[in-house]
Amino acid sequence: MAGADEIHIPAAFTPVGDVRGRRVVVTGASRGLGRVLAHAFSRGGASVALVARTEADLKEVAGELPGPSLVCAGEVTDEAFNEAVVDAVVGEWGGLDVWIANAGVSPVVGGPRRTTAAQWREVIDVNLTGAFLGARAAARVLGAGGRIIFTGSVIGERPREGLSAYSASKAGLVGLAKALALDLGPAGVTVNVVAPGWFDSPLVEPWKRHPELGAAVLAHTVQGRWGDPADLVGAYLFLASDASAFMTGTVLDVDGGYLLV
Ligand SMILES: NC(=O)c1ccc[n+]([C@@H]2O[C@H](COP(=O)([O-])OP(=O)(O)OC[C@H]3O[C@@H](n4cnc5c(N)ncnc54)[C@H](OP(=O)(O)O)[C@@H]3O)[C@@H](O)[C@H]2O)c1
Repeated sequence: MAGADEIHIPAAFTPVGDVRGRRVVVTGASRGLGRVLAHAFSRGGASVALVARTEADLKEVAGELPGPSLVCAGEVTDEAFNEAVVDAVVGEWGGLDVWIANAGVSPVVGGPRRTTAAQWREVIDVNLTGAFLGARAAARVLGAGGRIIFTGSVIGERPREGLSAYSASKAGLVGLAKALALDLGPAGVTVNVVAPGWFDSPLVEPWKRHPELGAAVLAHTVQGRWGDPADLVGAYLFLASDASAFMTGTVLDVDGGYLLV
C-alpha cells in the first residue's frame, strides 16, 4: 500500500463554483433561467455576454448586473451571429472561457398530427442547431479549461406526450454533448448538459395553467414543488469552474427527483 506521503491531494482547493474572472456567454439571457444564470455568474465575478433576440430586454438585464457585461442581440440559429458573438467577447475581454447554450423554445403543440413541419423545424433549429452553432463558434477560441454547457431537460430523458419535437431536441443535446466532449477533450474543453426539471419561468406558464399537467408535475416531483431558478445555479457554477475539470459528456439532472417518480 502507498504511504500517506505518496497521496497527492492539493494543499488547497479553489472554492467549488469559483468563476471569478471567467468570460462567459449565456444565451437566452433576457428572461427566465438565463437571466438568473447571468446574475449568478456576474455576482460570482465573471464577465457575462448576454444573448437573445430582444435587445431592449438584454439591455435591461445588463443594467441589473454588478459586473462587466456585453449585449449581443441576435438569432442563435444564425451561424454568422454566433461567430460574431465570439469575436465581440474576444475583442472586449481578450478571450472566452465558458459558453452556456441555454436559449430554447417549447411551444404547446400536442401529438404528431398537431405538430406541423414548421413547428418541428423551429424547435429543432433553436434548441439543437442553435446550441451546436454556438458550441461550434466557441470551439474556435476555447482553450484548456474551456467549458461548454447545454441546457437540456428531463424531457430529453423521459419524454412527455405532446412534446415530440421538444423531447427530440433535448435528447439530441445529450448526444451532441457526448460527441463534442470527444472532439474537444484533447484541447482541454469539457462539454456537459444540465437537465432541469420543471422550473418557474415564462416558458412554462402555459403548462402551469394546464390543470392536468400542472398537477402531474407536482405529483412527479419528489420535493413536491416547482423548481426555483436559484436551485439551478449551483450546477452551472460547478460545471463552469475548476471543480468539474474531470467531468465531460455528462448530464446533471436538477429536477427535485422528477425522474424518480
Ligand atoms: N423552465 C423550465 O422549467 C425548463 C425546464 C427544462 C429545460 N428548460 C430549458 O431552459 C432554457 C431556458 O428556458 P426558460 O424557461 O428560461 O425560457 P424562457 O423564459 O422562455 O426564455 C427563453 C430565452 O431564450 C431566448 N430565445 C428564444 N429563442 C431564441 C432564438 N431563436 N435566438 C436567441 N435567443 C432566443 C429568449 O429571448 P428572446 O425571445 O428575446 O429571443 C429568452 O431569453 C430552455 O432551453 C428550456 O428548454 C426550461
